[in-house]
Amino acid sequence: MSCEGCPLAGETQVSYIHSTASNVLIVGESPGREELLAGKPFVGRSGQLLEKNLLQVGLSRESVSIGNAAKCLIPKDKLTLKEIRQVLSCCRHYLEEFIHSISPQMIVCLGDISLRQVTKLKGISKHRGSVYPTPEFNAITLPTFHPAFILRNNTMESLFRQDLMAIKTYVDNGFELL
Ligand code: URA
Repeated sequence: MSCEGCPLAGETQVSYIHSTASNVLIVGESPGREELLAGKPFVGRSGQLLEKNLLQVGLSRESVSIGNAAKCLIPKDKLTLKEIRQVLSCCRHYLEEFIHSISPQMIVCLGDISLRQVTKLKGISKHRGSVYPTPEFNAITLPTFHPAFILRNNTMESLFRQDLMAIKTYVDNGFELL
């Protein structure tokens, strides 16, 4: 499939990263400027915060696969809500293909856009920290906050880390539903 009909068709795409070292896929929102320059997801401030918290719960960045709801930077100030929805809808097939190709046992959704893109559930504050069976991908999904939100609201970092700790518990338990 192509990017036909996407308002961001032709823009630079940032690839996903597959780690064979675990069965966890972390899905963010869309790359930022630093990610566009590096050609890799989560290398900027959000990525550093994510990596720091992953390490604190005993997970290395290299041990997880990483993707995004959109492969291009979504310029939220330049697109209408309708166009943003169109971008996400056009981009979903890339994520679907990636998920099917790596078959993760757990998908961690960072923020509301990622949660909607993967599961269609709405409301990250309501859903964070819970785990949802996701039959479409034969996986369980764990929603948590986006690191950019934590950068703006650092009192929430302990909750974020608590959610990441749950990933580690699932990894250690072979992804049995608790
Ligand atoms: N924020 C995201 O959601 N994804 C990235 O890759 C970088 C920042």
